[in-house]
Amino acid sequence: MSIINTFRETVRFQNVSLSPVERRLQRCVTVDDFRRIAKRRIPRGVFDYIDGGAEDERTLSGNSSSFSRLEWRPRVLRDVSRLDTTTTILGESLSMPLILAPTGYTRIADSQGELAVARAAERAGVPYSLSTMGTRSIEEVATVNGGNKWFQVYTWRDRGLVKELVQRSAAAGYTALWLTVDTAVLGRRERDVRRGFSLPPKIGLGTLLDGAVHPGWSWDFLRNDPIMFANLENSSVPDGSKPIALAEKVATQFDQALSWDDIDWLRSFWDGPIALKGVQTVADAKQAVVAGVDAIGLSNHGGRQLDDAPRPIELVEPVRQELQEQATIICDGGVRRGADIVKALALGADAVSIGRPYLYALAAAGEAGVDQMLSFMREGLERTMALNGCRSIAEIDREIVAWRS
Ligand code: GLV
Repeated sequence: MSIINTFRETVRFQNVSLSPVERRLQRCVTVDDFRRIAKRRIPRGVFDYIDGGAEDERTLSGNSSSFSRLEWRPRVLRDVSRLDTTTTILGESLSMPLILAPTGYTRIADSQGELAVARAAERAGVPYSLSTMGTRSIEEVATVNGGNKWFQVYTWRDRGLVKELVQRSAAAGYTALWLTVDTAVLGRRERDVRRGFSLPPKIGLGTLLDGAVHPGWSWDFLRNDPIMFANLENSSVPDGSKPIALAEKVATQFDQALSWDDIDWLRSFWDGPIALKGVQTVADAKQAVVAGVDAIGLSNHGGRQLDDAPRPIELVEPVRQELQEQATIICDGGVRRGADIVKALALGADAVSIGRPYLYALAAAGEAGVDQMLSFMREGLERTMALNGCRSIAEIDREIVAWRS
């Protein structure tokens, strides 16, 4: 008996009444944990579409591994008992310098899709960006998120449609535009090519078999309204009710003639700030300023477009040196923890943006997963600031990091 009592005293049983979602959340301590659980829960084709990159995926892995080339030069004895992570980006105040990047087809991770992520973003006090290829509409997202929202523009050949989408976002209260500039054609994502992956996923024998081993996802997928491009219903562009390979969609409907002159065209019907998403050289960052762009999104589309593209974290400092204070700089790609936010800011970025981390979290544990991932980012940001002696975002300066030789 006494052995059992001792055992009871020393071993604390985990609360077995936890729901399956809570049990999964308990196991997610890092973004990589969310990724691992997402991989188990969703069909392999869907996971590979989210997780994969272009060609040999060197840029995909390099985006995050480049952050490990930086090490700290922490300052001590600075009274870090009060930390302030708030900042202002394009005139809006953020609880931390983090923006949720636009991701297409978010409902393939979880049926709530964009709505879940937009709600979590507002709770966390950070901007949510809705993609043109979103599977919830501009207006639906605005209904659940009264906070700071950005709309991402892909330029269709049907320019009237682009104008209409932008005007709808202005009417719905979106505050900034991302203009994606790195997708003249689609990068070759060979995991998707190998599988013949289409969006929405085709329901063939393979999908049924894959679905059978991912019953939670399949039930969610079948029980909810079909996944469609919610912004494109009744437009000149197919709304996604028929499966199509993304490369084909981009090749046939995106405007490859997009050029610097189109910034003026966008300005003719949009009064708010414009951020370019996909700037990859100092020269283009300079040209963006000349073109009157407000923010530069240093991004290689999460390694999904041009393999061996520059890694955004390595571009931050040269671009900041060139631009000085002429534009807001957002570093997009490879951010996997709060410490990465501090590194990007130390080199000169104003904020970072993340895509895959919230998709993994959404696929692993739904909206609660996204909440937990955002808390993880915030705690990491605060801890790293405290350990480096930075009390505010303004105190994160170049002195606290060094490139490892
Ligand atoms: C869409 O923008 C994608 O990268 O798949």
